[in-house]
Amino acid sequence: MGAARYIWIDDSLKPASEGVVPFVSAAVQYGFSVFEGIRCYATDKGPAVFRLDEHVERLLDSAHIVGFRELPVTAEQVRIAINKTIAANEFSACYIRPMIYLDGAMSLTVEAGQPRFVVAVWEWKAFLGAEAKERGIRANIASFTRLHPNIMMTKAKVSGNYVSSILAKTESQRAGFDEAIMLGPDGYVAECTGENLFVVRNKVIYTTPRAGILEGITRDSLLALARDLGYTVVEEPISRDQLYISDEVFVCGTAAEVVALREIDFRTIGNGKTGPITRALQQEFDKLVAGRHPRSAQWLAPVPAMDAAAVR
Ligand SMILES: Cc1ncc(COP(=O)(O)O)c(C=O)c1O
Repeated sequence: MGAARYIWIDDSLKPASEGVVPFVSAAVQYGFSVFEGIRCYATDKGPAVFRLDEHVERLLDSAHIVGFRELPVTAEQVRIAINKTIAANEFSACYIRPMIYLDGAMSLTVEAGQPRFVVAVWEWKAFLGAEAKERGIRANIASFTRLHPNIMMTKAKVSGNYVSSILAKTESQRAGFDEAIMLGPDGYVAECTGENLFVVRNKVIYTTPRAGILEGITRDSLLALARDLGYTVVEEPISRDQLYISDEVFVCGTAAEVVALREIDFRTIGNGKTGPITRALQQEFDKLVAGRHPRSAQWLAPVPAMDAAAVR
């Protein structure tokens, strides 16, 4: 993981060593912060951020959902901060983590604290491991149920939500799997710990309805790419045993990108390899983020070069 030299705090770039949060803050004590996971890709025209506008919109939507009223930043200021943090660190490709967190607020109301804004970046290549993309990974059904939408806000990327993900993924890996599939409170497949899930059966692509999951931006991109390739895509509830009899299952997310599940609960999926539709979508996605796809111009935002003096 390549370390950054600079971090954005509130309204300016600071040395990365200053990127610390106060211990007495609702962000640390209660997990009350909202964040985004975004990727910047190396393209022939320089670094470019994938679906920047949509990620910034989701960050501000998350803040709105959890009840922040006065935000410390506008969408435009978030975009500028992200671009400057990438440029200052001179990364050609990186992972981007903007966050709005609640500073103070030990008395359990949003009003009791101050929202603060930070952007961290780092080089993060293979989230699920280098082999995962090629071979696919092994998953199990978590013993933990995915968040109930009236208990935690599933449309918001709230830090506290990820305790549930860590519980499930740790259990999964300790049991010898790579990733956990989480069923929702209704008993149907919801999503993985940091990815949305797709199934292929008889050349039709299925994915879960949006109500109980994080509405993934990679998911949305793959729906468009699949339709571009002429596939029928159906959004409907998926049961655990429908996974077992699928031809292909794959998961997607900003960190993981597109990865096949070759085995679920000790049952081989399809022929136990990355299937042809998963592979086709992986290839389209790779072209897209490399700037070599008809949709690239629409979805990749080039990072403006920055005057070195502006960093100091
Ligand atoms: C719980 C969860 N589901 C799905 C996703 C995939 O979303 P995206 O494609 O926007 O990264 C993520 C990652 O952000 C996630 O944390």
